Amino acid sequence: MNSPDAPKPDAPPAANPAADADLDPFRLQSPETLANPYPVYARLRQEAPVYFSAAYNGWLITRYDQVAAGFRDPRLSAKRSSAFVTKLPDEVRQRLEPLRRNLASWALLLDPPEHTRIRSLINKAFVPRLVEGLRSRVETLVNELLDAVAPAGRMDVLRDLGDLLPLLVIGEVLGVPAEDRHRLKGWSNALSGFLGAGRPTLEIAGGALSAVAELEDYFRGVIAARRQSPGNDLLSQLILAEEQGMILGEQELLSTCCMLLFGGHETTKNLIGNGLLALLLHRSEREALRATPSLIGPAVEELLRYDSPVQWMSRVALDDIELDGVRIPKGDRAFLVLGAANRDPAQFPDPDKLDFRRTDIRHISLGLGVHYCAGSALARVEAQAAISTFLRRFPDAELSPGPLTWRMNPGMRGVTALPIELGPQSSAS
Ligand code: HEM
Repeated sequence: MNSPDAPKPDAPPAANPAADADLDPFRLQSPETLANPYPVYARLRQEAPVYFSAAYNGWLITRYDQVAAGFRDPRLSAKRSSAFVTKLPDEVRQRLEPLRRNLASWALLLDPPEHTRIRSLINKAFVPRLVEGLRSRVETLVNELLDAVAPAGRMDVLRDLGDLLPLLVIGEVLGVPAEDRHRLKGWSNALSGFLGAGRPTLEIAGGALSAVAELEDYFRGVIAARRQSPGNDLLSQLILAEEQGMILGEQELLSTCCMLLFGGHETTKNLIGNGLLALLLHRSEREALRATPSLIGPAVEELLRYDSPVQWMSRVALDDIELDGVRIPKGDRAFLVLGAANRDPAQFPDPDKLDFRRTDIRHISLGLGVHYCAGSALARVEAQAAISTFLRRFPDAELSPGPLTWRMNPGMRGVTALPIELGPQSSAS
C-alpha cells in the first residue's frame, strides 16, 4: 500500500498522442481533448463520474457536488510533495533531493496543522482590503505593458502581458527589488514546467532543480538585506514570523517564497490569456462588457468558470473512500477536476455558454476549503485590471489569423501564444 507521502507520481503523465486506446478509452491524453477537454468531461460526468484512469493512474472526479465535497474531505490529503519524484530512478531522485526538500514545505502540499500555521501568515498579506489597495498600482503596470506594445499595433497577450504582470505584481508584494523582477520569470517557468509535466523528462527536472537552487540563493540574498533593513513588504513580514518562531527555519521561509512565486504566476497568466481569448471569440459578451464596464467583476468570475486556468488538483486517499458506489482505495490518487465541475449542468444552467449575467457563478476554479487560493483577491484584481484596461484601450482588437496551440498540459490550461492585432487605440484611453 502506498503511504500518502510516497504514492504514485502526483500529476498525470504528459500528453501522449500515441497513447494506447486501452489505457485511455476516453482519449483524455489526445491533442484534441487537451485543446478542448469539455466534451470528454461531459461524457465522464454522465457515464463515469468517479473514473479510474489507467493513463493518469488516478481517479478523476468530475461532478460539481463531488469535487466540492472532495476539497473538504479530510480523508483526501494534500500532502504529496514526494510524489513528484517517486517514480524516478534512485540516482535521479537523490540528485533532485534539494527540489523535493523545497516542495516539502509548500503550504499547498501540506495538511493541517502544518498547513494552518503557514497559511495563517500568508493570509495576512492577502486580505481583500490590502489587495484592493494595490488596484491602481496594478492598473499602472498594465498600462505600462500596453504602452510598450501599442506602437507595433500587435502583441502576444501571453508574452507581453500575461507572463509579465503577475511577476511584477508578486515581485512587488514580496519586496523583490524592481530591477530583479524580470529574472523571476525563467525560474518560475522552469518550476511550473516541472510541476505541470506529470512525468517530467530529466531535462525538465534538471531545469527545475537549477531554478530552485538559483531561486533559493537569490532569496537568501534578498532575505539577508531585508533582515538588515526591513521594509513594508511580505518578505519582511515572513522574516519577522521566522524570528518569532512561526516559520520553522530558513528552508520553510525559502519554500514559501518559491510557492508564492509559482502560485501567483502561471495561473494568473492563463486567466488573462484564456479570459481575453474567450472575449475575442464571443463578440456579444465583449460588447456587453464594453457597454457596461462595471460588469468586470462578474465577467472575471464567469471567465474563471468558463475556462479555468487550473483544470484539476490532486489528492491522496488516506483511507478507503466510497463515492457513488465506487471504492477509491487508500493510497490512490484522486484528481478533483475543477474544469469539469465548472461545466456541470446540475450546477450551472446551459454550462457551455459564456454568460456574464449569470445569477449564480459559484465556480470552483480557485479551490475550496482550507486550501482555497490564498491569492484569490490578487488574482481577481490583476485579471480585472488587465482585461478592462485592454478592452478600453483596444476596443477593436482581433485575434491574428492562424491556428492556436494549446499547451499539452492537462492540469494547467492555456495557449502557448495569443497573437492579437490591436486595431486603432481608443482616444478615451
Ligand atoms: C487565476 C489565478 C489563480 C488561480 C486559478 C489559482 C488557483 C488555485 C487553486 C485551485 C488552489 C487550491 C489548491 C489546492 O486545493 O490544493 C490555489 C491555492 C493557492 N494559491 Fe492560487 N490561484 C491563482 C492565483 C494565485 C495568486 C495570484 C497567488 C499568490 C500571489 C496564489 C497563491 C496560492 C497559494 C499560496 C495557494 C495554496 C493555498 C493553501 O495551500 O492554503 N494563487 N490556487
